[in-house]
This record gives sequence, C-alpha cells and structure tokens, in this order.
Amino acid sequence: MATDADVIEVRGLKKSFGPVQALRGVDFSVPEGRVLGLLGPNGAGKTTAVRVLTTLLLPSGGRATVCGYDVARHPGAVRRLIGLAGQATAITPELTGRENLEISGRLYHLGRSVARRRAAELLGRFDLVDAADRQAKTYSGGMLRRLDLAASLIGQPRVLFLDEPTTGLDPRSRLGMWAIIKDLVAQGTTLLLTTQYLDEADELADEVVVVDRGQVIAAGSPDTLKDRVGGDVVEFTVTERRQLEVAVSAVAPLSQGPPSVGSEGLRVQVHAADRGSAVLVDVVRALDAAQVATTGLALRRPSLDDVFLSLTGHGAEEAASDGAGRRRSRPARRGAGPAEAAEPAGPAGVARASGPAGAGTTVTSGTTAASGTTAASGTTGPEEG
Ligand SMILES: Nc1ncnc2c1ncn2[C@@H]1O[C@H](COP(=O)(O)OP(=O)(O)O)[C@@H](O)[C@H]1O
Ligand SMILES: [Mg+2]
Repeated sequence: MATDADVIEVRGLKKSFGPVQALRGVDFSVPEGRVLGLLGPNGAGKTTAVRVLTTLLLPSGGRATVCGYDVARHPGAVRRLIGLAGQATAITPELTGRENLEISGRLYHLGRSVARRRAAELLGRFDLVDAADRQAKTYSGGMLRRLDLAASLIGQPRVLFLDEPTTGLDPRSRLGMWAIIKDLVAQGTTLLLTTQYLDEADELADEVVVVDRGQVIAAGSPDTLKDRVGGDVVEFTVTERRQLEVAVSAVAPLSQGPPSVGSEGLRVQVHAADRGSAVLVDVVRALDAAQVATTGLALRRPSLDDVFLSLTGHGAEEAASDGAGRRRSRPARRGAGPAEAAEPAGPAGVARASGPAGAGTTVTSGTTAASGTTAASGTTGPEEG
C-alpha cells in the first residue's frame, strides 16, 4: 500500500545477473520515519535490492523510487538524499578514521571546514575520538562498522540503507550498533536495514519483509511474523515419566492451545505466543506448586530458521547453500566477475564520482556473511575500478 508519505517504494522490482534472477518481482514500501527490515538468508537478494535502491545497480524490471525519485531515471537526486553503510567496505584502511570521514564529507560536496566539523562530531558520537587519528586498518570489526556508519551519515541523509550492519560482530558490538541505530531512528531517519537475524529485525524494525530466492515470502510486523511461526515456546523435560500428566495439567492453562508432548514422552512445550518471558515465570511457579521435577527449562523464541521452515518448508541455512551451483557460486562472482563487469558502467561509476551512495561502497565484495567474517579488507573491490 503506497501512500504519499512513503519514502521508499518498490514495485515489481527485478534484477538478473545473467542467468541468476537475484530479484524476481519484489514489492514493498517504507513510510517516512519508519524502519523496514529486509530479512532473508544469504543469497536471498537483500544486497541486490539495496544496491538498486542506492543507484549502484540498474534494475532489470519494475520500479523503485526514493522520496518520489525513480532510482534508475534520477540517480543523482536519489544520491543526495541517501546514505549507505555496507560492511565497512567504504573505508580506506590506510587512512585514519578522521581522514576517512573528511573524505566522505568531500564526496558529499561538503566544504572543507564543514566536512572537518561533521567528521569531528561523528567521531565523538560514535565513540571513535581516541582512535580518530589511527589508521583504520588498526580498528576492530565493531569500530570499522561504526566508522562506516559515520561515513554514511556525513551528508545528513534523510534515508539510510544499512546492509547487514551487525553480521560478524561480537555480541557487545552488536548491542552498541543497535543502540546507535535506534538513536538515528529516534531522530526521524527513514531506514531500510537488511539482516539475516529475526532477533535483529525484531529489535529494530517496524515492518519486516522476508525475502527468499529473490521473492517476498512474507511481510508484516515482527510480532505478526512470530505469531505465524507459532510464537515463543517454553520447553522443559520432566525427570520422571509418572509426573508427566501432572506437569501437563499444571501448565495447560498457560498455553495457547494444548501443550505439546515430544515423541520421547518427557519433553513438554508450552505455547506462549509473544508472552514468552511472562509465561516462563508462570510455568516455573506452576511446576513448583505441582511439585514436578524438571530439567532443561528454557524459553525458545522463534528464530529465522523457524520462520523459514514454517514459510517455505526449508531452513534458512539450506536456502543459503542449496542449488549448489547457483548459490555456492556466489563468492566467486563477487567483485568483478563476468556478470558484474557486464553491468552498465553508469550507476556505480557515477555514484563513486559524485559521492553519497558511492564513496567506493562495494557492498557485495564485503558480504561474506556465510563464513561469518567481516571482510574489512574488501575496501577497494575490483568492481569499483
Ligand atoms: N554481481 C553479481 N553477479 C552475479 N550474481 C550475483 C551478483 N550479485 C549477486 N548475485 C547473485 O544474486 C543472488 C542474490 O545475492 P545478494 O543480493 O548478494 O543476496 P543477499 O544480500 O541476500 O545475501 C545470489 O544468488 C548471488 O549469487
Ligand atoms: Mg548481502
């Protein structure tokens, strides 16, 4: 449903790389000031969608607009409004953090002194002051992501694209990144974020679009999605079979629908919808009151895998690696593979020359999520050259 307030609008978007249909007719929209999570496994087409929306790739079909500007017909206008952070691929390792930011500012056509001031502000805001004058290659993964995000914000974009902002980060850096992102959203930035993790979409996104093999397979709020996969589950195992019945009747009033009993006959699942933590506490109390001894009591929230299993009949991991030829060939295609080289020189070249989305952002070259690495070294991928 497109409305006047939609900042990003995507209709029937298609993108093929030779025989590979990376996007097969995708629709979604993002209203002003909202956060859309594009959720999908490796190879789903997330980065391709981001690259089309940020004018780095031309679509093969369909239409996409940002603030009303068609990304294919008015790339310059789009680039003035957007920021893009990939996986720290826009950072030049030999330059210091401060130099990286100042150069990004110059690419956004900021004057020298404005660029310098904005860079200093962002270094402060992203906790990089101490490291500001060190070469970026000495930064940790989390620092690089923060620097990359800072670079994408230098032009004060209205619309921000974050491609897997936390993939490969340790848990603490991940939480830090989430806090930064929430802060940006609180200030009114419209955000499209891609992720492989349901918990991240859950934490950050107002609306989630689940993509698989270039198609949208589900869309809705994180809660709606979790409900579709059955919601939270509180699980426990009774230690003595004779207590099973007592246990089940003790927790039955807490479950949405009857509790499930595992085939081995000792494991009980209480269906908690979206009230997992509250139900967990109640289950503990109920079992305690009924004097049932249990082990392995745990709250299980639906994961991306559960979402995938329920929506597609196959798991996310499988989606990433199945169709061996097509999916596994991906790493080899990164950078200046034949298909990429055949890409019209236009958008990527233009973006690099004039700044905003560009700044040398080779998103795909750093996307090695499958192996869990951050690929900070992918800075100047061959495809830019
Ligand atoms: N430049 C390219 N040349 C050929 N195939 C590509 C290129 N970029 C992406 N693909 C293919 O398009 C599909 C979607 O990739 P991508 O958008 O990077 O997925 P995601 O970001 O969700 O992991 C994959 O099958 C990938 O191999
Ligand atoms: Mg990607």
